[in-house]
Amino acid sequence: MFVLVRSAIPDDIPTIRALEQQAESAAHWAEREYDALFAPDAPTRIALIAVDEADIGHVRGFVIARCALDDWEIENVVVVREAQQLGVGTKLIRELLRRAHAAGVISVLLEVRESNLAARKLYERLGFSSEGRRRNYYHEPMEDALLLRISVAV
Ligand SMILES: CC(C)(COP(=O)(O)OP(=O)(O)OC[C@H]1O[C@@H](n2cnc3c(N)ncnc32)[C@H](O)[C@@H]1OP(=O)(O)O)[C@@H](O)C(=O)NCCC(=O)NCCS
Repeated sequence: MFVLVRSAIPDDIPTIRALEQQAESAAHWAEREYDALFAPDAPTRIALIAVDEADIGHVRGFVIARCALDDWEIENVVVVREAQQLGVGTKLIRELLRRAHAAGVISVLLEVRESNLAARKLYERLGFSSEGRRRNYYHEPMEDALLLRISVAV
């Protein structure tokens, strides 16, 4: 699938929320957390969206990461169901890694449910490696999180 990846803007928030709500295994945020994404006093985050190359109004997926000086943490990534397994997630994360590298970040990390095999495959194919496990990190259902990290320095 041919998609373009661009920075999200405040007008994208309703679409991002709608995508997240359709994805059961995504991290679910309250509306105010999305509204705070672009607030001047909010923690620094990066939000990227993937749009159809042929129809740039058609959003296919998004990724949001929290940005600290040395590490960026991927907080959520979702690809719309009908566009999954076509490389959209890969393109979103690659662009995030490219931007992290350009910003001088050392590594990008995330937590993922152990049972989320689609997400684990995505990260594994991109070169993330497992750094440990957080026991019973997730609730409803309770499950361990795997902590994954990739170095983006040099
Ligand atoms: C996880 C997710 C973002 C992956 O996005 P995607 O666009 O389908 O991923 P890609 O097409 O780039 O696939 C990357 C790799 O993962 C594999 N993969 C993706 N989904 C898969 C699935 N359901 N089963 C098995 N492998 C899968 C692809 O085959 C590909 O591997 P390959 O190069 O060996 O073929 C998507 O499944 C999704 O939105 N899931 C719901 C939300 C979610 O769980 N987010 C993660 C929270 S941590």
